Amino acid sequence: MNRPRILVVYTSRSGNTEALARALAEGAAEAGNRNVEVVVKKARDVSRQDVEEACALAFGSPTYYSYMSGELKALFDDALLYKDSFYSKPTVAFATGNGGQSKCVESIEAILELFEAMLIQKSDILSPGLAVQGNPDEGALRQAKAVGRKLGEAGVEYACRKGSEGIIVGKGK
Ligand SMILES: Cc1cc2nc3c(=O)[nH]c(=O)nc-3n(C[C@H](O)[C@H](O)[C@H](O)COP(=O)(O)O)c2cc1C
Repeated sequence: MNRPRILVVYTSRSGNTEALARALAEGAAEAGNRNVEVVVKKARDVSRQDVEEACALAFGSPTYYSYMSGELKALFDDALLYKDSFYSKPTVAFATGNGGQSKCVESIEAILELFEAMLIQKSDILSPGLAVQGNPDEGALRQAKAVGRKLGEAGVEYACRKGSEGIIVGKGK
């Protein structure tokens, strides 16, 4: 039986968002008594099959003009064709920026909600989620790791719910 797979997707030019992605992945790997597989990929390398086969998904981006990066947006544009594979799947959004990072997180969350994914933590003004200013410090990395673990556990639960062996499919299947 395949281990539940957690997919962490990110874009990053100067490493800030990548550092968060790696910490999140580290936390996710601790889920299910470490009986999970964690895959970390840049958005441009992510295929439809990657999304379909994952039982939990994280999406992260630097903030560009108060929005997610073009590369992550391009992934979501393509994903409209297979949006059913997001249905009820545990997901989380994360971002770095120079002050506008919450807007970036919100832009990712808006699409995940449109795809009817399950956000394991939805950010708002009181709880801005995984939105980090600049290069993540130790506290931010710790938070990312904790969120990753939570995502991993939700992914394991999702996989059990689907009783899945191999490919995990979405809505109505
Ligand atoms: C083209 C461009 C546009 C940006 N626009 C914003 C912005 O609107 N708001 C903001 O807070 N930061 C903005 N930034 C800053 C980046 O989001 C920030 O430096 C981020 O942490 C970089 O992530 P990375 O190291 O993963 O590439 C911008 C950076 C670039 C290069």
